[in-house]
Amino acid sequence: MNTLSELITKEMEQAFGAAGYDASYAKVTLSNRPDLCEYQCNGAMAAAKAYHKAPFLIAEDVVAHLQDSACFSLAEAVKPGFINLKLKPEYVAAFLQQMAEDEHLGVELEKIPRTIMVDYGGPNVAKPLHVGHLRSAIIGESVKRIMRYKGNQVTGDIHLGDWGYQMGLIITELEKRKPQLPYFDEGFTGEYPSEAPFTIGELEEIYPTASAYAKEHEEYREKALHATYLLQNGHRGYRAVWNHIMQISVADLKKNYQNLNVEFDLWKGEADVQKYIPDMVRKLKDEGFAHYDEGALVVDVCEADDKKEVPPCMILKSDGAALYDTTDLATLVEREKLYRPNEVIYVVDKRQELHFVQVFRCAKKTGIVRPETKLTFLGFGTMNGKDGKPFKTREGGVMRLEKLIQEIDDEMYKKIMDNRTVGEEEAKETARTVGLAAIKYGDLSNQAAKDYVFDVDRFTSFEGNTGPYILYTIVRIKSILAKYGRSEEAKLARGGEPEDDGLTRCGETAASDLSGRVQAGDLHLRAAENEFEKALMLEVARFNEMIDVVYEEIAPHKICAYLYDVANTFNKFYHETKILSETDEEKKAGYIALLVLTKRVLTTCIDLLGFEAPERM
Ligand code: ARG
Repeated sequence: MNTLSELITKEMEQAFGAAGYDASYAKVTLSNRPDLCEYQCNGAMAAAKAYHKAPFLIAEDVVAHLQDSACFSLAEAVKPGFINLKLKPEYVAAFLQQMAEDEHLGVELEKIPRTIMVDYGGPNVAKPLHVGHLRSAIIGESVKRIMRYKGNQVTGDIHLGDWGYQMGLIITELEKRKPQLPYFDEGFTGEYPSEAPFTIGELEEIYPTASAYAKEHEEYREKALHATYLLQNGHRGYRAVWNHIMQISVADLKKNYQNLNVEFDLWKGEADVQKYIPDMVRKLKDEGFAHYDEGALVVDVCEADDKKEVPPCMILKSDGAALYDTTDLATLVEREKLYRPNEVIYVVDKRQELHFVQVFRCAKKTGIVRPETKLTFLGFGTMNGKDGKPFKTREGGVMRLEKLIQEIDDEMYKKIMDNRTVGEEEAKETARTVGLAAIKYGDLSNQAAKDYVFDVDRFTSFEGNTGPYILYTIVRIKSILAKYGRSEEAKLARGGEPEDDGLTRCGETAASDLSGRVQAGDLHLRAAENEFEKALMLEVARFNEMIDVVYEEIAPHKICAYLYDVANTFNKFYHETKILSETDEEKKAGYIALLVLTKRVLTTCIDLLGFEAPERM
């Protein structure tokens, strides 16, 4: 389906043509003076030069051809040469009806679906998740959903950090504590125990202890590095410990991500691609891409017009160990082999940008990916505390993700209990749903690349540009629709007589049926009755246009901005209009159809952001 701007632009193209001007000047945009008009066309200003004619005169010529247009209720030339446009309410209603009848709300799907991989999350196994990983998970999940919504074949890959020094540290610490375990007995040839020698709680303590100890003790550090080396080179016992760490850690990670409503299709990691490294290295050498520089194997990736120096991509350290560049390149080898993606999008802290510039250039230059494979780095900024410094606990430590979520949920619970409309159990459940929306919306409403301040008070507020405000608006619509559904049912039950309060239970089913009735065209959108309704209709009509921009620019924050606009226009409409007490049944049915569509648009948007709305709050 076309966007409203496209349809109006077509109408304007005809008028420009009919008036003797080139149709390319006809572009229409949303008005930046909503007090004067809804859409505007500035083409006459641009045409003035080409036609050596005052823009106002051109605008007047064009407008003369719009007077009996099917879409404009107002087409007016204003000085110095703008064309102000207002749409006919019935034209907008027809557009919305078409949108309501479309499963995709008017969004055009990719004609040839692209295969896209989103590399996000990126937690490091055995290290606790901290707020730094939160942004990757939240933004990545939304990006994945947006790409999918446009009809692409999308795979989300967590890309675990599971092959580094932290593993050597844990092995070393474990050996220090329990040297009698068979993993450390070089002569052991039997089967290793299937049960891990530690719990997740112990594991979470072992890593920081070992890490701190290694910083103070050179010998211990050497041991841990060597253990890492042995692990990477196939030490049987260490590999068995590694398996235990993975099993326990991944189970814990899954729980954490589930709480965030974040779901990965692939749980691959750095360790999975080790097998591609030897071949890849050989090829890079044989084909003359890699050379030795001070003992290390590198590929030059600098380009003539680099403003800043781009150092070579490091393939192997002088001791032969693989590095971060190496695993990311080998991961691309695997991705090409198994999935042949058209695009890989990396959602990673923007401080890693240089690493990705190196990896992307190296992968392209050496043919690890095809020339047409798009590699996209979506770098995000830092989440700061109110003091403007990276977010910390009150005591100044690194904020654990679980703790942060708990803090938000507690705050939400307090607020919901203050309102006292639901019982304690439901309040807890609702607090979790709304809390997650508070966190995600708080994050996603900022442009990803920017740093932002994580402000618990502001994010959990029911007012302003917040997740809870959006959910509150959705819940309000749900409640009106449920009431309408109940009264309709009661009416049917009583043989057509309207009845105000009736069956409490069945209202929900009746309300969800409403959506089907609007989609089937049985409950119709009607021309707006007042300016507030029209404003809401115009906002809702912008949906497909907004989605296209969000998709093009990979910009979830634009969904948030849109949600806030729709919520505000809806709430104004709600305050200015008697909906359920409207006595003209047709008018009322028109309002209901608009509410059903508004709800669909809002819930689709929050789904793309990765959260849900409760039934009540
Ligand atoms: N594990 C890394 C970190 O915590 C992030 C991984 C990002 N993804 C990638 N393909 N390098 O910094």
